[in-house]
Amino acid sequence: MREKGEPAEAVLKEIEARLSRDLTFNSGKILGSMCTSPHELARQVYAKFLEKNLGDPGLFPATAQLENEVIQMLGALLSHPQALGNIVTGGTEANVLAMWAFKNSRTKNGGEIIVPVSAHCSFDKAADLLGFKIVRVGLNSRFQVDVEEVRRAVSPRTVALVGIAGTTGLGVVDPIPELSEIAQENGLLLHVDAAFGGFVLPFLKELGYEAPEFDFQLPGVCSITIDPHKMGLAPIPAGGILFRDFELKRKVTWRVPYLAGGETEQSTFVGSRSGASVIAVWALLKHLGREGYRKIVERCMRLTWKLAEEVRQIDGLDIMTEPVTNVIGIKSESANIKRVAEALRRLGWAVALFPRHIRIVVMPHIREEHLEKFLQDLKRVIIELKG
Ligand SMILES: Cc1ncc(COP(=O)(O)O)c(C=O)c1O
Repeated sequence: MREKGEPAEAVLKEIEARLSRDLTFNSGKILGSMCTSPHELARQVYAKFLEKNLGDPGLFPATAQLENEVIQMLGALLSHPQALGNIVTGGTEANVLAMWAFKNSRTKNGGEIIVPVSAHCSFDKAADLLGFKIVRVGLNSRFQVDVEEVRRAVSPRTVALVGIAGTTGLGVVDPIPELSEIAQENGLLLHVDAAFGGFVLPFLKELGYEAPEFDFQLPGVCSITIDPHKMGLAPIPAGGILFRDFELKRKVTWRVPYLAGGETEQSTFVGSRSGASVIAVWALLKHLGREGYRKIVERCMRLTWKLAEEVRQIDGLDIMTEPVTNVIGIKSESANIKRVAEALRRLGWAVALFPRHIRIVVMPHIREEHLEKFLQDLKRVIIELKG
């Protein structure tokens, strides 16, 4: 920092110039991200209420009330309007909080959590922080967790199971009804990571797609992660953690004295946190309603299936598995998939590379014309790599 400041316009100009190198969602080039361009209403609301701090809810009781209403609305979306929870920084914090609550409810001395190999790395972070041992379980031919392997992995040290509703790699859904049964039979806790799928799966049935069960309707499900800043179109940071009952949430609740708004409780990892995020999510849930979100999912799913069909037509390429949500894994028998991804990136396409596939997430910012251009480039890349 210099001794003397610069005029605001000069700083803004420099920022514009410096950030022009960043990709934008509007370009249609970001095909591999689970985040998207925030909805216009959410942008306006977010910018307007930047000073709200839910770390000190005594100062902002009305904002805290909106958070309760958001949790109620998300709970209703997940078949349990009485669920309790918070809007947090993202799926990582939500997953860590669930594991933290599990730890405090069952054991103070570690223990094991059974996690699919497809799980997001936030569970590794949680295990490291909390002293859990992770027991990894393999997948079946549809890239869902292998239920028989889960059964075999349960031991006297097991504390909890994790299932994923919308995996990071392929957007598929683990057999949560079976995991719920195993959890109940063995007295285990079950967390469902629906960070991505939470805003997609509730609408699939009405749209005529296969709609796997994953939510609080299943009696073994104790907590769910659902992220408004992914398919909920909210600005970052906005993750969601929902607990089935008060007992579990209480395990991650701390009294916090000495605040300007008076003594309070916090149930999040962070202290000071964005009230603007919460208000933006509230605004979107009210504005879009189920119908609005269903329409968004309808478009994303239609484009996803179209893209899947077109990729299958390209000689040398195939998809990993039929899409369940708006995610596709592209694989190749003839070309090295890493080299395909590198060539696509050189052409400006931001695709996500996994060990055996390229992940495309057909988020709301992606239009048909973007996919057409992408397919042209993909075909070209495959021909060039073959040559
Ligand atoms: C299934 C799943 N869970 C959790 C996360 C972590 O979310 P965040 O990046 O918001 O912390 C992700 C991120 O993509 C995810 O795909």
